[in-house]
Amino acid sequence: MIYRSWLRAEGFTPDVFDGRPVIGIANSWSELTPCNAHLRGVADAVKRGVWQAGGFPLEFPTMSLGESLMRPTAMLFRNLMAMEVEELLRANPIDAVVLLSGCDKTTPAMLMAAASVDLPTIMVTGGPMLNGRFRGTQVGSGTHVWRFEQEHAAGRMTQEDLLAAETGMARSCGHCMTMGTASTMACMAETLGMQLPESATWPAADSRRLRTAQQAGQRIVDLARSDLCPSRVMTRQAFENAIIVNAAIGGSTNAVIHLLAIAGRLGVPLALDDFDVLARPVPTLVNLMPSGKYLMEDFCYAGGLPAVMRELSGFLHTSHVGVTGRALADVIATAECWNREVIRAAADPLQPPGSGTAVLRGNLCPDGAVIKQSAASPHLLRHRGQALVFDSIEDYHLAAPDPHLNVQESTILVVRGAGPRGYPGMPEVGNFVLPTKLLERGVTDMVRISDARMSGTGFGTVVLHVAPEAAVGGPLALVQTGDWISLDVPARMLTLEVGDAELARRRVAWSPQVSPFSRGYARLYVEHVQQASQGADLDFLTGASGAAVPRDNH
Ligand code: FES
Repeated sequence: MIYRSWLRAEGFTPDVFDGRPVIGIANSWSELTPCNAHLRGVADAVKRGVWQAGGFPLEFPTMSLGESLMRPTAMLFRNLMAMEVEELLRANPIDAVVLLSGCDKTTPAMLMAAASVDLPTIMVTGGPMLNGRFRGTQVGSGTHVWRFEQEHAAGRMTQEDLLAAETGMARSCGHCMTMGTASTMACMAETLGMQLPESATWPAADSRRLRTAQQAGQRIVDLARSDLCPSRVMTRQAFENAIIVNAAIGGSTNAVIHLLAIAGRLGVPLALDDFDVLARPVPTLVNLMPSGKYLMEDFCYAGGLPAVMRELSGFLHTSHVGVTGRALADVIATAECWNREVIRAAADPLQPPGSGTAVLRGNLCPDGAVIKQSAASPHLLRHRGQALVFDSIEDYHLAAPDPHLNVQESTILVVRGAGPRGYPGMPEVGNFVLPTKLLERGVTDMVRISDARMSGTGFGTVVLHVAPEAAVGGPLALVQTGDWISLDVPARMLTLEVGDAELARRRVAWSPQVSPFSRGYARLYVEHVQQASQGADLDFLTGASGAAVPRDNH
């Protein structure tokens, strides 16, 4: 009686308690997460589907992570959201769940949670914004922020121009419409089999976004009665497919960290080097910013992810079964491409095989580092230069405008203290704007190295995720201004040209900084976060606990 009575306070008729599946709708809606601000409407569409199929839908709010507004960085809170959603799913009496996400970190956080609980789950991402338009050209969220800021810093764009570009870049609800992290992770969720086919790309403002949501509501009722749980969907084969698709779509480097973290929850063996080995034979097919020219609306109308996967079928595990219950081969059998400019044929790719995200090794990154080749300048992929080192991104920002800064076009800019533990939260600052004096000379790219991340919408020859990070004593902590560094992406090498004896001498003189975070979640994070090469999850959150409540007094 206690369970029914309190729910009756919401006005439900008694027949909802007739044993039908209870479907949770975990909603990351928030006005502080503009990319997810329309998800209440999406939840209504999911509910329609659940009622239609004979389930009992109950929507509940979760933590939300607004990439553009949260400080110091939304990534600091990805693991907190994953922990919160996990506990909500386990603690409440639900049989299955639909996850509503959108902005960058909300999608991986929810997938990590679902993986650890392992209830039947479908994800519905909120969809991208409509294409940005400004003065007759297409502009991409994020990508054009960096471009316009660089133009402004170089004196080629006025403050008024920047203000005029703002609204043209955000014309509707939805997440960033470049192939940034949100679009990438939506595509990863679909490739992993956790959301329905075509779900990743329908624009947020398109009625077919709501149709997809209603279909997800119908399907989750079937799943509630099956054992097709995340652990059976997100298999090693699914992750291999995700890595291959990420290479073909020119996806975000953040996908590397998020996929490693999700796999860590499931106990699926996935290593950083898998991203290099599996992606090397794969050409970039999708012509989207920041690697290419178009935007998510174009990608959707060109056929979306199924058209890409059909083109890639020779690389993929097509026997994989996702939440549809059908093999991938069946799902993509009739997928068509309607615009070969946007989704290129494998025989005529945007970029040749091996131009996706590369994993580097060497004495500067013993546990690895990554570089997104498709967003880099080809002439810098082999480069030797002298380091100009900054201990924090703030130090760099103070120095960058200095007209007397001792920096050349060939200099390698090194920023440290921006890793998972060092910042903390590993902010997206790896594609920092170039020094002003070089911008004014027309320089558009330089080699930059850091233990930070880069926004999926960013571009440039930037080496990211250097591990171990400087804050835990990785070799990055030992680099000094004037040291020679050589980057050889084709050979997958990043080398600090300093002898072992000298590095050992510097190590003796090095001491870790004391973290200023003495309490609360930030302290927990600093004490337990793993390195980027392991997915930057908290060490005690890896693995799964299942859906059963350890101790149930009722
Ligand atoms: Fe939310 Fe880009 S800021 S997806």
